Amino acid sequence: MIHETPRSSTAPLPVAVLISGSGSNLQALIDGQLDGTLPIRIRVVVSNRADAFGLERAERAGIPGRVLSHKGYASREDYDADLATLLDEYQPGLVVLAGFMRILTPDFVIRHAGRMFNIHPSLLPKFPGLHTHQRALEAGEQEHGATVHFVTDELDGGPAVIQARVPVLPGDDAERLAARVLAREHVIYPLAVRWFAEGRLALGADGCPRLDGRVLDAPVQLDDVIS
Ligand code: GRF
Repeated sequence: MIHETPRSSTAPLPVAVLISGSGSNLQALIDGQLDGTLPIRIRVVVSNRADAFGLERAERAGIPGRVLSHKGYASREDYDADLATLLDEYQPGLVVLAGFMRILTPDFVIRHAGRMFNIHPSLLPKFPGLHTHQRALEAGEQEHGATVHFVTDELDGGPAVIQARVPVLPGDDAERLAARVLAREHVIYPLAVRWFAEGRLALGADGCPRLDGRVLDAPVQLDDVIS
């Protein structure tokens, strides 16, 4: 594990955002950048799909959008090597996975250790992987949510930073539940990015996140931050 010293610079943090689809989490970050609540500069948005709506969001905000299709690559390693080369052009201090629907290779993950976040639509460690909302419903969960975590080479398994919880309500289907969770994602992702950009959040050499110098044995709960 690479030890990441917290940022001390006051210059905006250069960020790369990786997407595959709608990009509503990207939009939350763009909004924060534009309204000045996030001390970041999104230097590039990369999508593995040319039709990702998030690319339009980037264009509207004047952020360079790049498409690196995974099609035609012989291996995951080859794709990730080109992705790393592309990102290097922009020298991001933080890589934000925002609905990027690809499993990353260990080499790519190690290269960005301690400076790559993912958001996952469940209360990890519950429901890693796909179809989280449907699985939460089928499991009879009364509560569901989303988690921001540092990325390690364990799928959806890196150290969690912050979670938001929502109730599962009578009559919910996966779509309604997903919308309730997504609205909270748009709160916790900018918050985690802000903490990182302000130098308040870092991943320690022991693999534990630290917030304001305090080891996070468990993720921060959004309800505790806003209450
Ligand atoms: C979100 O639910 C996120 O948790 C998951 O993919 C979805 C992306 O949504 N990883 P969007 O593209 O940000 O709207």
